[in-house]
Amino acid sequence: MVASSGLAEGKTPREGWSSRSAFILAAVGAAVGLGNLWRFPTLAGENGGGAFVLFYVGCVFLLGLPLVVSEIFIGRTGQDDAAGSIRKVAEKSGVSKAWAGFGLLGVIAAFLILSFYSVVAGWVLYYVGVLGGDFLGAIGSGDLFRGALPGESQEMIQGRMGDLFANPWLLLAMHAIFMGVTFTIVARGIGSGIETAATVLMPMFFILLVGITIYGAFVGNLTEAVAFLFTPDWSKLTPQVMNTALGQALFSLSLGVAGLITYGSYIKGSAGLGPTSVTIAFADTGVALIAGLMIFPIVFAVGLDPAAGPTLVFQTLPFAFQTMPAGALIGFLFFVLVLVAAVTSSISLLEVPVAWGIGEMGWSRPKSTMIFGGSAFLVGVACLLGYNVWSDVRLLGFWSLFAETDILDTIDGFTGKVMLPLGAFFTAIFVGWRADRKLVEEMTGLSGFWLSLWRFLIAWLCPLAVGFILVTGLFPEILGS
Ligand code: PFF
Repeated sequence: MVASSGLAEGKTPREGWSSRSAFILAAVGAAVGLGNLWRFPTLAGENGGGAFVLFYVGCVFLLGLPLVVSEIFIGRTGQDDAAGSIRKVAEKSGVSKAWAGFGLLGVIAAFLILSFYSVVAGWVLYYVGVLGGDFLGAIGSGDLFRGALPGESQEMIQGRMGDLFANPWLLLAMHAIFMGVTFTIVARGIGSGIETAATVLMPMFFILLVGITIYGAFVGNLTEAVAFLFTPDWSKLTPQVMNTALGQALFSLSLGVAGLITYGSYIKGSAGLGPTSVTIAFADTGVALIAGLMIFPIVFAVGLDPAAGPTLVFQTLPFAFQTMPAGALIGFLFFVLVLVAAVTSSISLLEVPVAWGIGEMGWSRPKSTMIFGGSAFLVGVACLLGYNVWSDVRLLGFWSLFAETDILDTIDGFTGKVMLPLGAFFTAIFVGWRADRKLVEEMTGLSGFWLSLWRFLIAWLCPLAVGFILVTGLFPEILGS
């Protein structure tokens, strides 16, 4: 039985991308997000730069890229939500349908990530407002090209973040607006919602990115940043740092949460998965590295600490924009860029559980969007309260890895360090060992050398490396460190 359309009798046809390039645009949009522009620079800074960055790039191409192919393969073959797609591939391969369980794991991970993602995107929205207001002021004063936030001291600029964190209502308002936008797009469906958003927003994103990068190359101090980002001090590569880098590679490529299974399931017709996956991996990694090269020259130029943590982007950059020519304009555009990237990713995060609700529970799209968007919003509220009224709460306080982390960081850490690697591990075992070889060959479009290489990576390197990094990262005492 070859039911490749996934159409059950009496059902309306399942939605789909209008073209292959629409899929690529949406998938790159999903991949490129806060993970690249906020989380990558934060983690690179916290974990000592070079060794982390190089290990990260290794993870992307040796482990991430084969997994990108695998997830899209599952979705494209199954033409269903994450769990349903895995089930269909299992059926066609004659193996247990219980494998669909790791699809559910992904759905839960995507849901949890969305909850805090929207909170962080809310911070970005706040800064769009702050710098947008300042830019309007610059226009008003007739000095379009002045620096940002003139007359404010470094303490005042950095203090803004603390003020925001201390104000649950402001955090809530920003989170609500962002989640509302995400919700509205996803509720409209694949074609008129997600695809349209990606088609409008992604070109805008790349124009802004290129513009700001060229600007940065002229005004920033690249040398120290390049040395920091690319000179490895391998002694800094502890098992936890490796675990963090792997988690980040998976997060950034939208892997391990069934994001690409879900998006891949809307591909109609044929697509060579090799070139498509390479495009996604290169675009995603390119943007992360460019973000590093945009942010660290500024961090060093103004003598700030690269290991500042999650507030790095928000406290450091606005201050730097103060002293830069046209800083008011560029500062505003930078946060618009981050916001645009966040929207094209958050819609993919919400789409994972929404598609699951439609496929597995039989809910309508509006109902599924309402249920998952609404409950992710509520979990997000707990995250933002963790910065003020619930700042003492430690969700996984019994676990030394999370003993010191607030609610948002705990959910971020647990999904990134535990759930995504687990999802990736199961995907690799399933596609590498259980899926029918003929089916894989036919549906991925891979052949010859590339097929053999991919098979080796997905069947051997991915499970071994991901399994090893997962276990040693979570239980470093195994290595005696
Ligand atoms: N890849 C996104 C980022 O780097 O910001 C985050 C993400 C989106 C993860 C979608 C997972 C996903 F399904």
